Amino acid sequence: MASEESRPLLDPGEPNAECKVQNKNLYLATFAAVLGPLSFGFVLGFSSPAIPALKKSNNLELRLDDNEASWFGSVVTLGAAAGGILGGCVVDKAGRKLTLMLCSLPYVLGFLIIIAAQDVWMLYAGRLLSGVASGVTSLVVPVYISEISHSKVRGTLGSCVQLMVVTGILGSYAAGMVLDWHWLAVVCSLPPCAMLAFMIFMPETPRFLLNRNQRPEAMAALQFLRGPQVDHEWERRQIEANAEDPGFSVAEFKNPAVYKPFLIGVTMMFFQQVTGVNAIMFYAETIFEDANFKNSSVAPVIVGVIQVLFTALAALIIDRTGRKILLIVSGFIMAISTAAFGMYFKTMPLSSGNSSHLESLTPPNLMLLQEENHLAWLAVVSLGLFIAGFAIGWGPIPWLVMSEIFPLRARGVASGACVLTNWFMAFLVTKEFHDLTGFLTSYGTFWLFSATCILNVIFTVLCVPETKGRTLEQIEAHFRRAR
Ligand code: BGC
Repeated sequence: MASEESRPLLDPGEPNAECKVQNKNLYLATFAAVLGPLSFGFVLGFSSPAIPALKKSNNLELRLDDNEASWFGSVVTLGAAAGGILGGCVVDKAGRKLTLMLCSLPYVLGFLIIIAAQDVWMLYAGRLLSGVASGVTSLVVPVYISEISHSKVRGTLGSCVQLMVVTGILGSYAAGMVLDWHWLAVVCSLPPCAMLAFMIFMPETPRFLLNRNQRPEAMAALQFLRGPQVDHEWERRQIEANAEDPGFSVAEFKNPAVYKPFLIGVTMMFFQQVTGVNAIMFYAETIFEDANFKNSSVAPVIVGVIQVLFTALAALIIDRTGRKILLIVSGFIMAISTAAFGMYFKTMPLSSGNSSHLESLTPPNLMLLQEENHLAWLAVVSLGLFIAGFAIGWGPIPWLVMSEIFPLRARGVASGACVLTNWFMAFLVTKEFHDLTGFLTSYGTFWLFSATCILNVIFTVLCVPETKGRTLEQIEAHFRRAR
C-alpha cells in the first residue's frame, strides 16, 4: 500500500488533490483532435472568398448565379446535418479515434472534387461531402476531448473546439484574400491530412475502452494521458462504477436520466442557431458597405478576428467562471446588440437604389440609402458586439455541454441528434433569412432574434446545469438523482 507521503493523486480534477497529473500528452491529444474543427472551420469559411470568384469564373460551366451561389454556401450545412446522423451511428461502434480519423477522407475528397469540378453539380457534391465530414467532426471531437480530459481543464480544452472552428474560418478568409479558389481548396485540405497524421499516435478514450471491457488498453491510455504519477486505478474504478451495458435502445428515452439531458442538449443547439448568428455573419459585408467602409471585403476578416479573440477569452476563463454565467452574459449581449440592429433598420429610410451587389446579398427592405446612412456606425458596433457576445458563450458552450451531459451509453445517439438539430437549424435560418425579412421587415426580424436571445437567458437560468469542476460520472449521477 502507498504510504501517506507518496499517496498518489486521487481525482486529477479535484481542486485540493495533491496534483501530480501531467497534462502534456492530454494537450497533445487535444491538439491532434482539434485539427478536425480547424478543418471544418476552413470548410465553412471557404465559400466566402470562393463565391465572388466563381460568380465571375471564365469557365461558363462553373459560373454561379445568385441562386446557385446561395446553394454552394448552404449545402454544407445540409451535409453536416446528415453527418450528425452518420456520426451518431458510427461513434459508438467504431470508437471516437477511428471515427475522427475516417473524417479526413470525405474532407480531402470533397476538396478534390471541387478542384476537379467540370460543372456546378460537382461543386455541390464536393461541398456536400466536406459538409458530411464537418458534421461528423462536430460530433466526435467534443466527445473525444471531454472523455480524455479531467474536470479541472475540461472546459478550457472543450472550448478549443470552437476556437479552432473560428480560427479555420478566419484562415480561409485570410488565405482567400491572396489565393485563387483552386489553391485555397488545396490549402483547406491540409488540416484534415495533418489531423490524420497526428491522430494515428493518439489513444482511444479510456471511457470508450472500458465500456468495451478493454481494460489493459484503457489503462495504457490513462497512463499516456495523465502521466505515471497518478492513481490510474482510482480513475478506472470511477469510470467502471458508472459503466453500463454498452447497448442503447430507444425505449431508454423514457428514463429521465436520458431524456432530461437530451432535451437540454437539443434545445441548446436550437437556441444557438435562432440567435441568427449565421445570417448576421453572412450579412457582415453589406453592413460594412452601408457604413461606407472603403474596403468592405475586410468585414469578414474583422468578424473572424473578433470571434477568435473572444472565443480564446472564453476558453481561458470558463473553468473559473463556469458555463452558466458565460451563457447568461452572452445571451444578454446578443439581445442588446440585435435590439440595436433593429433600431438601426427602423430609423433608416428604405432605398429605391438597385445596386446589384446589395440586391444579391440583401433582403429587399435592408437596402439603405448610402448618403442618408448617418447611423451606420450603430450597425457596425452592434455587429462587433454581437459577434463578441456569441463568441464568449453561445458559440463554444453548447458544444461543450453536449459532450458533458449525456450518459456514456447514449452519448453517440444523443450527440447525433444535437448535431442534426444544430446544422439543420443553421440551414433553415440562413436560407429563410431573406424571406423572414420580407415577411417581418428587417427590424422585426432583428427584434425577433433579440427576443430569442432573452429566451436563451431564461432557458439557461432555469434548465442548464452547471458542469464546472465535476467529472462526467458526477454529472451523470446528478441526472440520475434528479429523476
Ligand atoms: C456554430 C456555427 C457557426 C460557428 C461560427 C458554431 O458554434 O454552430 O453555426 O457558424 O460557430 O461562429
